[in-house]
Amino acid sequence: MDADAQKRAAGEAAAALVESGMVVGLGTGSTAAWFVRALAARGLDIVGVPTSAATGALAQSLGIRLGELGETKGIDLTVDGADEIGPGLSLIKGGGAALLREKLVWEASARCVVIADAAKQVKTLGKFPLPIEVVAFGHTITSLRICDALSECDLGVAPRLRMKDGAPVRTDGGNLIYDAACGRIEEPAALAAALKSVTGVVDHGLFLDLADTALIGAPGGVLTLEP
Ligand code: A5P
Repeated sequence: MDADAQKRAAGEAAAALVESGMVVGLGTGSTAAWFVRALAARGLDIVGVPTSAATGALAQSLGIRLGELGETKGIDLTVDGADEIGPGLSLIKGGGAALLREKLVWEASARCVVIADAAKQVKTLGKFPLPIEVVAFGHTITSLRICDALSECDLGVAPRLRMKDGAPVRTDGGNLIYDAACGRIEEPAALAAALKSVTGVVDHGLFLDLADTALIGAPGGVLTLEP
């Protein structure tokens, strides 16, 4: 099974967890898109809360009714992809620049299920560059402070402004993304706290103690992991 087939299998397994009447957080990225397609195919009476404009557009095109975060009675279940899945279901997310909305939806959810292909599982987080969302105003100064925060955590890396087609990538909220190629993040909780303490940092892609279950598409089938 190739990576895309693994993502699809994980997305379909997650769609089977949804029941009519639920409010469902809809993640962002290629794996979450498989979930959204499989969910739409079930034709259930649900409300979807998208984590990005792209996911909202996909869900709407497939006939899923949408609600905004805060408009619904709460979120029963959120299903989303990840860039890395480490010990205890600690995650790096934000490769698709949707980390802030994703984290807001995850934190409002009674249950969060992360779906991924097998290559996303790692022993130590950090090979995938950590996305850090910052406000555009004064962002070069903020990036220097991020550098200091990384050094405090023994990570001597300079974060790089994410660019696309010659221009800085803007998030759905109009912010910028810096990516920090940490290599190995030995103490994710300490790094998360250090980054959050920097003025101008809106959020970062470390999702710690948020995932309740992981569904991993693997060559032999879909594996279920708990923290
Ligand atoms: C979006 O910002 C990310 O958090 C995605 O969920 C993550 O990048 C996984 O994307 P894929 O499913 O496309 O690998």
